[in-house]
Amino acid sequence: MKKIEKVGVLGGGLMGSGIAQVSAAAGFPTTVREISEALCAKSRQSIEKTLAKGIERGKVSEGERDKALANLRFVTDLKDLADSDLFIEAVVEDLEVKNTLWSQLDKIARPEAIFASNTSSLTIIAMAAASGRPDRMLGLHFFNPVPLMKLVEVVRTITTSDETEQRAMDFVRALGKEPIRAKDSSGFIVNLLLVPYMIDAIKALESNVGSVEDIDKGMQLGAGHPMGPFTLIDFVGLDTVYKIAEIMFTEYRESRYAPPPLLRRMVLAGMLGKKSGKGFYDYSSNPPRVSNLGL
Ligand code: CAA
Ligand code: NAD
Repeated sequence: MKKIEKVGVLGGGLMGSGIAQVSAAAGFPTTVREISEALCAKSRQSIEKTLAKGIERGKVSEGERDKALANLRFVTDLKDLADSDLFIEAVVEDLEVKNTLWSQLDKIARPEAIFASNTSSLTIIAMAAASGRPDRMLGLHFFNPVPLMKLVEVVRTITTSDETEQRAMDFVRALGKEPIRAKDSSGFIVNLLLVPYMIDAIKALESNVGSVEDIDKGMQLGAGHPMGPFTLIDFVGLDTVYKIAEIMFTEYRESRYAPPPLLRRMVLAGMLGKKSGKGFYDYSSNPPRVSNLGL
């Protein structure tokens, strides 16, 4: 069984940057593909910032930072990823965008290379045909923030081979993460439970059950969550939560997955959460203030 040596990461956003960081830190030469030079620079900066924070907290040594940075490359041309043994896709939650990428990659990747999607809510089998290698396609679902979250859901489809799953499990363990197996159904295990929770928090706000701050404080202090639901939604990205909810609603036709109107309004207003500087909270001040949501 061929070992995974080189890793290609598609997308250097929130998740792609985190995945590339942990892959490089674990010793895998890792190439990140972004769609512009400016986004390549942004991805590199965000990794450098996280590593610097890790050093500040005594969790990362300077040697580990240097090793991670030496293993990273940022490119815009897909061809520069051709020698990867494993491709991890972390681009926008949009089936068409992902499948366009898979079919382009299939033409340049080695026949034995594995394709893994970090999708939150799409089924992996919906990408298997475009990948041209249904036996070497699976889901590797990381959690945000990737350097701190221990879990990876490993998702095999009805066509994934045993060898592909084994190679992927070994890779996840080599990153120092804990793999769990999840069925190829929309939301896998964690988002099946977490997405309705985020949606319910927005509905609670819409029906004036409590303020943003009090609902957040309630779940932190009353249920022991590390962050309240609005901080979490801001953290994940409102555009991403909206797309996930739409996909899960289309799949299950259950109102518990339907994106609430407030979420849609905020996305249309460009309030995407922490990554855009404003979501349920406004991050232009420290500590962040609750945004004016026109409620
Ligand atoms: N590098 C390395 N280690 C770091 C670090 C860094 N840059 N920054 C912090 N750490 C370490 C800290 O030292 C600490 O370690 P110890 O516990 O050993 O002391 C640990 O990481 C946690 O750090 P903090 O306690 O300072 O941070 P925190 O308390 O603010 O927690 C958090 C941060 C881990 C993000 C926590 O708030 C949390 O778990 N939030 C919930 C996140 C969550 O639910 N994510 C899932 C989102 S949904 C998803 O991802 C799926 C999807 O498809 C949408
Ligand atoms: P993001 O908005 O931070 O980044 C999106 C990435 O997609 C960027 O790198 C962007 O350049 C790229 N992109 C956009 N349009 C593209 C196109 N047409 N072709 C190629 N690339 C394109 O998003 P993210 O939060 O990193 O999410 C990426 C994936 O990871 C999604 O599938 C999402 O569901 C999943 N995910 C997100 C989280 C989270 O908490 N944000 C957690 C787990 C999984």
